[in-house]
Amino acid sequence: MQATLPIGVFDSGVGGLTVLHALTDLLPSESILYLGDTARVPYGTKSAAVVEAYAIRCAGFLVKQGAKAIVIACNTASAVAVESIRNEFNIPVVGVIEPGAEVASKLTQNGRIGIMGTQGTIQSGAYQTAIEKLRPGTTVIGQACPLLVPLAEEDLVEHPATRLLAQDYLKPLLEQNVDTLVLGCTHYPLFKELLQELAGDEIKIVDSAIAVADAVKKELETNQLRTPEQAIGSRRIFATDWGQRFEQVGSRFLGNHIPEVEHVDL
Ligand code: DGL
Repeated sequence: MQATLPIGVFDSGVGGLTVLHALTDLLPSESILYLGDTARVPYGTKSAAVVEAYAIRCAGFLVKQGAKAIVIACNTASAVAVESIRNEFNIPVVGVIEPGAEVASKLTQNGRIGIMGTQGTIQSGAYQTAIEKLRPGTTVIGQACPLLVPLAEEDLVEHPATRLLAQDYLKPLLEQNVDTLVLGCTHYPLFKELLQELAGDEIKIVDSAIAVADAVKKELETNQLRTPEQAIGSRRIFATDWGQRFEQVGSRFLGNHIPEVEHVDL
């Protein structure tokens, strides 16, 4: 495997662009292929078996394009498909659950962690399992927040309805006295400021995008797959459905203009 090959990143849609952003900041010399499975989004409300099949197809596409490693930049897909993707493709695979769980396990002082995520992620119990391994005895409370994804997509982050809904989602977690909150969905970093304001400064909020980028760097180094530092990485963006919407919505997640989106049919 050549170190100069690109990293393959995929998500159900635009949410994983927050991970692409963190990867670009940390590893500017790496070339990245990003695939948004926009024809099948959302994953969060679908069954584990269906999401697993979609995720394997996305990873397979990226491997065919020459990816040297796969980053599953989607919590729902990471929750149900990381093991099957590792088994199917003989290259390093990084999901978003383990890095986020690791940061949360280190941050919590009272051993009570709240997870906000899609129905699929919360139902899978993947964060509970990962945190139990890292810090046995920790209390992990999951809260499905299904409406936050469409609100982010519709650019309604600042809308009063979003504030009311976020309050509602946070209430059971705060009542359970969590001191750490994991944004267990790639769309939620857009709500970080609002959630921090509503939860209060004493609650630590984990945005796993940065932790994921750190994990990718380590994984590449362990496998001697780092592109030389002096290289200038390129980006290619693919989507299974396409159009202006991906570019418009996606640029908010990426924090930057989206380069040309190439359409692929999986
Ligand atoms: N990317 C998904 C996640 O992180 C959220 C969007 C979806 O439901 O597909 O779980």
